[in-house]
Order: sequence, then structure tokens, then C-alpha cells
Amino acid sequence: MKILVLNGPNLGTLGRREPEIYGTKTLADLEQLLTGRAKALGVELRFRQSNHEGQLIDWIETEPSEAIIINPGALSHYSLALADALRGSGKPVVEVHISNVFSREPDRHRMVTAAAAKGVISGLGFEGYLAALDYLAKLGG
Ligand code: DQA
Repeated sequence: MKILVLNGPNLGTLGRREPEIYGTKTLADLEQLLTGRAKALGVELRFRQSNHEGQLIDWIETEPSEAIIINPGALSHYSLALADALRGSGKPVVEVHISNVFSREPDRHRMVTAAAAKGVISGLGFEGYLAALDYLAKLGG
């Protein structure tokens, strides 16, 4: 089973971006963590990050995978285009947020892409990605 892991705008600067909110671990640390778990689960990961909405949509359309884990960053709160692409993929999607968006500013409570996901995990840090991976691997059988 192949799982596509997408991270959206500003997640490439994890580790130095607002560490009081997102922690001090980097995107490379996240990739390493998920790759280790994927190996144990016997699934293949494709790990991608972009600051650009169109690039994320292109990957959703073209990267071979059976399921998707996505942290769309701020695009979560307004991108109908990304929501359409996720819905259109027909694949099970888990949306992950490192921080608990519901305990933050009201603008972050509006969740547009989440409506296209099977489930959403918010506020568990990197653990949220691991939980999403475990769930999707189980789904794949
Ligand atoms: C985030 C939450 C978003 O509101 C924010 O714009 C991000 C990161 C998170 O992982 O907590 O870029 O998706």
C-alpha cells in the first residue's frame, strides 16, 4: 500500500517557525519518524511539501497512492480548490494539524478541506501523523 503524505504552506520551516506552537522538530524529523513507522507497518510513503496550492493539487491528481495524509496549513481554512481535489481523488484522506486549531484564533476554526476528509486530527503534534498512518494502514488491510 502506498500513502501520500502532503504538507502545505510554511510547514517546510518547522523547527524554526513559531516553536512555541509547532515545536522544535523539523519536517525532516517528521519524515524520518513516519518512514520508520511505515516500514514497521509494511506501507510505502511518498512524502511531499509545497508552499503552493496548485502543486499540492497536482500531486493529489498524479502521485500514485491508495490513501492521503495531508496537513494543508492555512489552506485548510479557505481552499475550496484543495478540498475539491481531495474529494475528487476518491481516496481516504486524513487531515492532520500539529496545533489544536480550535483553541486558536477564530479564523482558524473555519475548516474547508476537512469536509473532504474521512477524519481530522488536530493538536497532537507529530503524533497526529502517526495516528493517521496507523489508521490508513489498517484500512488498507
Ligand atoms: C497548521 C494550522 C494552520 O492554522 C496553520 O496555518 C498552519 C499549521 C497546524 O499544523 O497546526 O500552517 O495546519
